[in-house]
Amino acid sequence: MQEKIKHYSAEINAFEPKNAEELENFRIQFLGRKGILNELFEIFKALPGEEKKTAGKIMNEFKVLIEQKIELYKEKFESVSENAIADFDFTLPGDSSELGARHPVSLVLKQINDIFTRIGFTIVKGPQIEDDKHNFTALNFPLDHPARDMQDTFFIQKDDNDPTQDWALRTHTSSVQVRLMENNQPPLRSIMPGRVFRNEAISARSHCIFHQVEGLYVDENVSFADLKQTLYYFVQELFGKGTEVRFRPSYFPFTEPSAEMDIQCKNCGGSGCNICKYSGWVEILGCGMVDPNVLENCGIDSKKYTGFAFGIGIERLAMNKYKIKDIRMFFENDMRLLKQFKSEI
Ligand code: PHE
Repeated sequence: MQEKIKHYSAEINAFEPKNAEELENFRIQFLGRKGILNELFEIFKALPGEEKKTAGKIMNEFKVLIEQKIELYKEKFESVSENAIADFDFTLPGDSSELGARHPVSLVLKQINDIFTRIGFTIVKGPQIEDDKHNFTALNFPLDHPARDMQDTFFIQKDDNDPTQDWALRTHTSSVQVRLMENNQPPLRSIMPGRVFRNEAISARSHCIFHQVEGLYVDENVSFADLKQTLYYFVQELFGKGTEVRFRPSYFPFTEPSAEMDIQCKNCGGSGCNICKYSGWVEILGCGMVDPNVLENCGIDSKKYTGFAFGIGIERLAMNKYKIKDIRMFFENDMRLLKQFKSEI
């Protein structure tokens, strides 16, 4: 035992830890539960009584030697880390975290919401998964009507024998108009922003996911003149005073008469470019007077009330407003695009 202690003592005296970790390993090696000191203690216990006295003294000295070594370096390493703190310059500027920016779709959506709420429209939302009634039937799409195909629907549940049992990702937010009319009586004046889905081939001009804001105004004596004036005001607010608009006749099952509204192309000012396909005009929304059948389907007296509705494609608007040429860019989250909107609200 004495031989062993001698050998270890020499090792301890020569030991010069370089860091706190080495010191800790040393401590475990000698003082740990399965360490050398305990090992020696087992031998010590087995010694005959008369040898125990001297051996005990040696053991004690050995233990003190280990502890002193630890104590010495412990202080040294602790004071090093204190010095490190003292050396730190608290007056240096920190790393600033980068500020995010609103997505262009969310920017335009906010502007649209602001414009319409200023003239008394409320904001209404609805589910993205819809049944046949709210997406189609109540909106005057008869069961076998070809206009259902126009919508390129993503079905979640499809029953070929009984389409009234179908469930689908909504193809437009007109479904929210139905929900609003079912549960409320006129006067109604609301917009319905939201995400919509269509099973379309993805290209620079169309995507299978996009965003719409639809609007609905139902009251006594609402006319097409009200529709035109409301949308004209909206365009002047969003694109600036003097922006020209034009209405073209169109068809939607739920409005009669129906129209599409174009604005003068903001990219070329109307002289023709690749964004407006050299026509000088860009289509931004569909609209019309709510078909009396739709009002009746939703429990509103069509003899007493009339209404107008419109549906705006937000990506289309944002493309025009920010001169973005490819709709796919909205969904790619490329920082080079997104960073450009930092200065916007
Ligand atoms: N729901 C139509 C669409 O998604 C847009 C629209 C809404 C047209 C309201 C007329 C009136 O294409």
